[in-house]
Amino acid sequence: MIPPLVVGNWKMHGTQSQCRDLARRVARGLKRKGRQIDVALAPPNTALEIVKKVIEGSQIRLAAQDAHWEDQGAFTGEVSAMMLKDSGCEFVILGHSERRHILNESDLVVAKKVQAALRNGLRAILCVGETLAERQAGRTQSVVTRQLRIALKGLGKSAIDNVEFAYEPVWAIGTGLNATSEQIARVHGRIRQFLKASFGNRKGNAARILYGGSVKPENAAEILRTPGVNGLLVGGASLRAETFLAIVNCSALPG
Ligand code: PGA
Repeated sequence: MIPPLVVGNWKMHGTQSQCRDLARRVARGLKRKGRQIDVALAPPNTALEIVKKVIEGSQIRLAAQDAHWEDQGAFTGEVSAMMLKDSGCEFVILGHSERRHILNESDLVVAKKVQAALRNGLRAILCVGETLAERQAGRTQSVVTRQLRIALKGLGKSAIDNVEFAYEPVWAIGTGLNATSEQIARVHGRIRQFLKASFGNRKGNAARILYGGSVKPENAAEILRTPGVNGLLVGGASLRAETFLAIVNCSALPG
């Protein structure tokens, strides 16, 4: 059985010393023995190096929050997947709704970023999810399917081995609102169905589909019990070691 993956997305939070302290507290607090779980931390780029040092030798993996689609070039302010790989990242979050909606990233841009991540040996954490208006218009499944179809277009069958998926309803991110188990199960089911149809049953069934959006210690266990949920992408609650650890520890499978 594939272990669940729990990712802490720190977004634009933390000086180097704050990130170092948080990573230290998470690393110390992880209950290791007999638990099956993958954990990744996504600090801001300025703290990648410092967090990398803290988590060295632990089970925690390093993730970045975004990457540019070119490996290098005249793109002021951008950081490439090649550079993130070189900085010790194993994962990169792509297509996060804050990038899609605040920074106007299109499906095509997200697709180019997925290709760049895979080309550079990073595991992509591909985020998809509908806005409130799209849900209310009954378009949730079609929006998520379109986001997946464009992001994965042209990838070879084995590419999916290096992609994690995250369903994050935009209206549930940072708002305290949660999707119900039924809503989550429906969308995760749709994503799984799409992956099986595109990449074959075996690969589709093996893919990890995380849920994200106001995950906290109080709701993590229930979300993880929802059919088709293989992990969590945690924003706000990952900024405190106690809350993130509580989520991680209730996510681990018994060994
Ligand atoms: P949140 O963020 O847990 O603060 O809602 C989740 C995310 O944006 O990945």
